[in-house]
Amino acid sequence: MGVLEKMNPNGGFSTVPDRSIMDFEEQFGAHHYERLHMVVRRARGCWLFDENGNRYLDGLAAYSAANTGHHHPAIAKAVIQALQGEFASVLSNVVYTDPLGIFLAKAAGFAPQLATRFGNNGNKVLPKNGGVESVETAIKTMRYYGYSQKGIPDGDQEIIVFDNNFHGRTISVVSFSTTEKYRQGFGPLTPGFVSVAFGDLFAVEKAINANTCGILVEPMQGEGGMAIPPKGFLKGLRRLADENDLLLVCDEIQVGMGRTGKKFCFEHEEIVPDGVILGKALSGGLVPLSVFITNAWIMDLVFSKGSDGSTFGGYPLACVAGTAALSVFEKEQLALRSATKGALLKQRIQAIALQSPHVKEVRGEGLFIGIEVNNGNAMEFCRKLLDLNVIVNDSHGHTIRISPPLIINDHEIDFLVKRLETVLVDGKSSKPHL
Ligand SMILES: Cc1ncc(COP(=O)(O)O)c(C=O)c1O
Repeated sequence: MGVLEKMNPNGGFSTVPDRSIMDFEEQFGAHHYERLHMVVRRARGCWLFDENGNRYLDGLAAYSAANTGHHHPAIAKAVIQALQGEFASVLSNVVYTDPLGIFLAKAAGFAPQLATRFGNNGNKVLPKNGGVESVETAIKTMRYYGYSQKGIPDGDQEIIVFDNNFHGRTISVVSFSTTEKYRQGFGPLTPGFVSVAFGDLFAVEKAINANTCGILVEPMQGEGGMAIPPKGFLKGLRRLADENDLLLVCDEIQVGMGRTGKKFCFEHEEIVPDGVILGKALSGGLVPLSVFITNAWIMDLVFSKGSDGSTFGGYPLACVAGTAALSVFEKEQLALRSATKGALLKQRIQAIALQSPHVKEVRGEGLFIGIEVNNGNAMEFCRKLLDLNVIVNDSHGHTIRISPPLIINDHEIDFLVKRLETVLVDGKSSKPHL
């Protein structure tokens, strides 16, 4: 296995050939992902490189985790400095660290004042690692609020969620997935969730009862087919939450941090939720980092010493990366960039759709764009795009997901559009120049 230590002259971790890497996964890995036939050796900005140094445009950005582009120099530098300066490693949570304190202050101020009906004393932040862990924090918060403030007996709390939701893979979170495959055989499942149609305010209203403590919503659904709710949906949720004393939590893990052309996706309807979950892009895609942010009063109500914790949650390296990534987000005005480049890209994709027999609908905001295809098999087009050096995948089977890094430039947009045209417009099958 000494070969693993030999670096690839084209860059990357090893010289182990692609075939062996795929065999290793086959033999030693769980087969829980369907992969495109490609081994990525290196990533920079909007580009991914194979073992021969061929480049592929990343039209997916790790489902928004690479919003700032791969190995953003400022974030990578911060991480390297933390390692070289010996302020990166995980410490026992019995001591304070300056990266955590600084990151918390920055993240708390990154969101507007949440849950304003509980006061204007700022927000507080609870950091974790993968996004689903912060979804769990949000669920705990909604449940505890219902128990302690609304008098709901502990164990009877209910949270309203939405059909085709995706919030991660822990047992509690898959318990309220409406995708059978995510749940089947993994029981007993966690009770206390009621799922209604995404976008249907009437169904939400009907689902509310004396045990309801909160609403958990993706303001736009990434995994659920790049679904955009009808206008007024989020405003309606805000109204129902206020009228029924519920906590409204937005999962912005995929659609926040500029992805849809706004800093937060909930801004499309000018509402302010009671809690926000961020992950993925929060640390520039270099280390896992997620947060649940809420009004300071709520955070102090729910969490006291010993009621929660995580070995790596808020550890120095993640906080250094997070602080750097938040600075890059602001400095490079990534939300604005996503809005302008996304509008341009969508317009060009819509023009392709007019000539294509395969496209049913083009939808999206900012650089969160879905191309729904008529035959329901979006992966077929994604495989053709791979042959043309573009990496994208499907969402919900029927939709090609276009979500490149938010730093994408006009030349890269051109590269992407030409290849989309090749696969979507019949008779345009010649391979564009790389
Ligand atoms: C909206 C949303 N919530 C939660 C998650 C789970 O995040 P993680 O995979 O980091 O646990 C994802 C991941 O794709 C997501 O898109």
